[in-house]
Amino acid sequence: MSLVLGIESSCDETGVALWDKHQGLIAHRLYSQVKTHQRYGGVVPELASRDHIQRLPRLCQDALDEADCSAENLDAIAYTAGPGLIGALMVGASFACALAYTLKRPALPIHHMEAHLLAPLMENPELKPPFVALLVSGGHSLLVRVEAIGKYHILGQSLDDAVGEAFDKTARLLNLPYPGGPALAQLAEQGDPKRFEFPRPLLDRADCDMSFSGLKTHVRRVIETNPGESHAPDIAAGFQEAVVDVLVSKAQQALRKTELQDLVVSGGVGANRRLRTRLNQTLQQNGQRAFWPAPEYCTDNGAMIAYAGFVRLGDAPANGRPVIQSRARWPLSELKPPGST
Ligand code: KG4
Ligand code: ZN
Repeated sequence: MSLVLGIESSCDETGVALWDKHQGLIAHRLYSQVKTHQRYGGVVPELASRDHIQRLPRLCQDALDEADCSAENLDAIAYTAGPGLIGALMVGASFACALAYTLKRPALPIHHMEAHLLAPLMENPELKPPFVALLVSGGHSLLVRVEAIGKYHILGQSLDDAVGEAFDKTARLLNLPYPGGPALAQLAEQGDPKRFEFPRPLLDRADCDMSFSGLKTHVRRVIETNPGESHAPDIAAGFQEAVVDVLVSKAQQALRKTELQDLVVSGGVGANRRLRTRLNQTLQQNGQRAFWPAPEYCTDNGAMIAYAGFVRLGDAPANGRPVIQSRARWPLSELKPPGST
C-alpha cells in the first residue's frame, strides 16, 4: 500500500491531495487566493505565504477526512520544492517536513514543472515516454522531449515572457481583473480574431523557441489607436489567436524534430479552450495524439504533487530524516530519473 499526501504552495493556490497506489486520487482540496490578491492586480508574495500557512492545516485535515483515513496511514509527504515564490515554497516545505518528521515518514521535494508534466498521466496510465511536453504556465513556456520520467531535454522555451505572463499582462492592458488569463479567454469568445492584425513571433525560425513580449507591446499599440471598451473583445480574440498559432506551430515543430507522435500539454494556459480545440484538431489531422489533464489539473493543484510524489517514492532518503528544500529557480533539465538520486 502506498498513500502519498501532496502539498502545493508555489504561488497563489494552496493545494492538498491524496494519491493512493490502487485507487488513484482519493482526496483533492484547493484554496485559491484570488480574492486576497485581486485588489493589487497580481500576486503579492508576502500575502501568499501568510495565507498558505493559514490554510494548510485545515486543508490537510479535510483531505484526510474526505479519504476517510488518518495521518498515520500516510506513507510519504510530497511537497513543491520549486520553482516558485520562495516564501510561499518555504511555507509548504516547512509544513510538509514537520508533518513527515512527526509521522516518521519520508518527505519528497517535488519539481513543480515536472508535476505539471506528469499530470496528464494521472488519467492516462497507458501513456508512456517518449513523448513531447508543452508546458505553458505563468512562469514557464517550455517544449520538452521526455525520454523517460526524469530524463528531460529542453527543445525550446520562451526567450522573454512566459505565455501565461503574456496573457496576464495583456489582460491588465485591457483593464481585466486578475487572474488575467481566464478573464481574457472569456472576453475573446465574444470577439473577432481577424479584426486586428497581430504578429506571430519567431514562426520564421525552424527551432522551438518562442517569444511573447512583442505581442503584448503590439496590444498596447492597438489599444492606443483604438481606444474604448468596445474594441476589447476583438483585441483579446486577436491576441489569443496569435498565441495559439505560435503554440500549435512550435508544438508541431517539436514533434517533427523528435519524430514522436504524442504530445502532453499542461500548465495553467493548458486550460485555455481555444488552445485545446486547435491543438486537438491539428494533431488529429496528422495522426498524432494530444493528452491533457482536466482543466482543474492544468492550473496549480495538489493532485499533481501527490502523483509526482508517488512516482518519486524511490527518491525517499534511506535515513528518513526530512530536509527542507526550496528553490525559487530550478531548471527541469537538472532532474534525474526516480531512484537515481
Ligand atoms: O500553472 P499555473 O496555474 O501557475 C504557474 O505555475 O504559473 O498557471 C497560471 C497561468 C496564469 O498566467 C493564468 O493567467 C494562466 O495560467 N491561465 C490561463 C487560463 N487559465 C489560467 N491562460 C489562458 N487561458 C486560460 N483559460
Ligand atoms: Zn504551475
